[in-house]
Formats: sequence, C-alpha cells, structure tokens
Amino acid sequence: MAFQLQSLPYAYDALEPYIDTLTMQIHHDKHHATYINNLNGIIEKYPELAGKSLEELLGNINALPEDIRTPIRNQGGGVWNHNIYWEIMGPKAGGEPKGKLAQAIEAAFGSLTNFRTEFEKAAIGRFGSGWAWLVKKGSGLAIVSTANQDTPLSDGLTPILALDVWEHAYYLKYQNRRAEYASSFWNVVNWEAVAGKYAAK
Ligand SMILES: [Fe+2]
Repeated sequence: MAFQLQSLPYAYDALEPYIDTLTMQIHHDKHHATYINNLNGIIEKYPELAGKSLEELLGNINALPEDIRTPIRNQGGGVWNHNIYWEIMGPKAGGEPKGKLAQAIEAAFGSLTNFRTEFEKAAIGRFGSGWAWLVKKGSGLAIVSTANQDTPLSDGLTPILALDVWEHAYYLKYQNRRAEYASSFWNVVNWEAVAGKYAAK
C-alpha cells in the first residue's frame, strides 16, 4: 500500500502565535504532501520495496538499489522527518519534561537550560536546510543535526525530538530570524509525546 500523508494531530492554527497558520497549511499540505507523492512515485517502480516501512527503508539505505538510495534518503526522509516533527508539537504545550526523560536530559546535558541552549545552537548552526534532533544514543541522549532531509535513523540513532530548520518552516513569520524560531519552539514542544518516544523500544 502506498504511503499516506499523516494528518496533523491538531488544527492548523493550534500552534499560534509561535508557528503561524499559513506556514502550517503550506508546510503540511504542500511540502509534506509532495514528499509523500515523490516517495510513492519511486516505490511504484520497485515493487520489491512495497510494504517496507520507512524505518526499514531509511535504516538500511545501502541495502537499496543504488540508483534510488539518494531519492529515498531525500523523499523518504522528508516524509519521516515531518511525521515526527508534527507529533512532538502541540497546542497548550511547552513547559518542562518530567520523570525519566527529565533525568536523562539532566544526565546528558547538565540541565534543561543547558540542553535548550545546545539544541538551539545545533538548529542555528546547521548551514542551509536541515534539522536539529534529540536522539537516543546507546543508553543516553545526544543532540545531532542533519542536512537536507537526512535522518538520524540512517545513522542507527533513534530521534525523539525534531526541529525543522528549512526556511519553509519559519520564513513567513520569522524571515531570516532562525534563532527566534528555534527559541519559540519550546512553547509548542509536547513533552509527553517526546517522553513516549523516549520510553518506546
Ligand atoms: Fe519541512
């Protein structure tokens, strides 16, 4: 079965005023939808890949036919990365993580404040388009950033928090002020969703 565009788990205006309605509409309905269509176009030509999950495809890119490794990395990554980005945000969110996730953040980064600073640095420092991530790495946590639609899944890491730093994610509201977008992001992080991903195997 072809990949389907995952619905936004909240209304387009739910993340106002931090992420504006028009950005959400274009980002989800145009950008994300295009990655889905392009990915399905690739898979159609390789029936042996039909039925594989995105995690299977992206987690072992070198096992794919050589001519579609880059297209799957770009289009499949574009689908998977946006899925997690929508999932870890929400209305009336923000605040602080709790429980085991809070402890793990403290263990890895010293404090939540320090974690936020380091994460924002990864987001701001990514040259051009890409992503900042909090990932499970071994028994702990790490911050990484990737270019374009590359995903940490392809490096054997498990993302639990994602920030899209492509200009399409923030330009209508923040223009060139990526740092402001990154610091506003904390107001819409759904820490319960992040904790769910942290707790999952
Ligand atoms: Fe995006």
